[in-house]
Amino acid sequence: MFVDIHQEKILILDFGSQYTQLIARRVRECRVYCEIQPFNINLDKIENFNPKGIILSGGPSSVYDEAAPSCSPEIFKLNIPILGICYGMQFMAHIMGGEVKDSSRREYGQTRLFIDDFTDLFVGFEDTPFINVWMSHGDRIHILPPGFTPIAHSKNSPIAAIKNKSRIFGVQFHPEVAHTPRGIEVLKNFLYRICGCLPNWTMESFIKDSILQIKRTVGGKTVICALSGGVDSSVVASLLHRAVGDQLVCIFVNNGLLRKNEAQEVITVFGEHYKMNLHYIDAEEVFLEKLKEVTDPEIKRKIIGNEFIYLFEKEAKNIGDVEYLAQGTLYPDVIESVSFKGPSATIKSHHNVGGLPEKMDLKLIEPLRELFKDEVRLLGRELGLPVKIINRQPFPGPGLAVRILGEVTKERLSTLRNADSIVAEEIEKTDFKDRIWQSFAVLLPIKTVGVMGDERTYENVVALRVVRSSDGMTADWVRLPYEVLARVANRIINEVKGVNRVVYDISSKPPSTIEWE
Ligand code: XMP
Repeated sequence: MFVDIHQEKILILDFGSQYTQLIARRVRECRVYCEIQPFNINLDKIENFNPKGIILSGGPSSVYDEAAPSCSPEIFKLNIPILGICYGMQFMAHIMGGEVKDSSRREYGQTRLFIDDFTDLFVGFEDTPFINVWMSHGDRIHILPPGFTPIAHSKNSPIAAIKNKSRIFGVQFHPEVAHTPRGIEVLKNFLYRICGCLPNWTMESFIKDSILQIKRTVGGKTVICALSGGVDSSVVASLLHRAVGDQLVCIFVNNGLLRKNEAQEVITVFGEHYKMNLHYIDAEEVFLEKLKEVTDPEIKRKIIGNEFIYLFEKEAKNIGDVEYLAQGTLYPDVIESVSFKGPSATIKSHHNVGGLPEKMDLKLIEPLRELFKDEVRLLGRELGLPVKIINRQPFPGPGLAVRILGEVTKERLSTLRNADSIVAEEIEKTDFKDRIWQSFAVLLPIKTVGVMGDERTYENVVALRVVRSSDGMTADWVRLPYEVLARVANRIINEVKGVNRVVYDISSKPPSTIEWE
């Protein structure tokens, strides 16, 4: 639906590497716009995309595998600069008449790369005889294809980087990973010198272009947006608000399962400060009524999801002539939907509470679909959103309902909210706060014995969950200092009525999950 407004683009063909998204992130850090597509995208599409350069990612296969991924060899004739990384280089050598062999010496980990040609990719490296690079391969190039020359070697890879006429390049190492400290310089040489890109893809330009696009798309029509107070929906709402002002109607459903003060913050920031057209639906009682006596987590999820859709649709109907629905879809979701295979294809279907677009007859606007999460945060900062919102941790759609094990009641919600806000306050005071993916309290469905003063107590247990993660797919518990744990536990037991014990969850994901339900 959107008109393409990118002047200079890099195309990344994904051959299945775990690092493909990282390549994209690095390219964008160089302020060049790029997109990832599966390796087998057809040639017409590539030509239509009109990239200034193509990067072939690495991948787990050997070029001799029966199902080895392979793209059209015609791409090498397009007169577009190409950089093959790891498998990308081997594939290129193989398809162009070279020979790739299974090496008896695997190279895995950091290796010294000796540069033999200081032009093109390696301009700026003249001062050093070698650089440290990250290698991860079994196969290696044995015989170069016609027209190629070697430009670097390592102990176990006599041909560790290659080029053909300053247009086609291959590197056996991974320039995109942090373990290749000067990898970004190699990428910059490819992007700026070889492809001729300029570093002009900035958040400022993104905002300007997006606003233009949104205005063109929406015209005079009404757009609705489900605002939750989370990072993505907050950024979408403020970007749209900049573009179309009061034509944007935000619907905020308070399901009564939010954290302490959260609902009020959303109203204050978006309704009062930004003066957005905010429709606030206080549905706490409705949700609690529907959740009465429900203890099964999946049933809780279904009830909450369905009720949310019902209330949202009802409100949308009240608004009347709505044509568009704005959503905070991010680039990783887009990549997943085009992904050819791999673990990403099976990711968390149950996490997308809502299913709004399928059910409602509205056109979608997804202004963040080109961005990674950290770019969304940058955008939020550029749009002036409060830091508290920008840095907000992920929070599940079903909210505290999946952190109260057993039945959700008003009283239990209040207990959990108070404990949870202490966790948030104490974590905020530590240096760990920027390295934590999620930190929260969970209310368990058991009571334990304690003593307070001279009295025996029989009260609730709260579990702390504090994890590091990069995408929520895997996670590890954070080794918080004992002093922090002690402070949190003391405060919860002293300040939260009805809790007499706190435990710390030391399970990683897998095999556990982040949420307890
Ligand atoms: P799990 O518990 O599966 O969580 O390890 C992974 C990430 O997903 C979030 N999560 C949800 N998000 N609806 C959501 O919108 C859900 O039902 C849901 N369940 C888990 C969780 O907070 C973590 O970030």
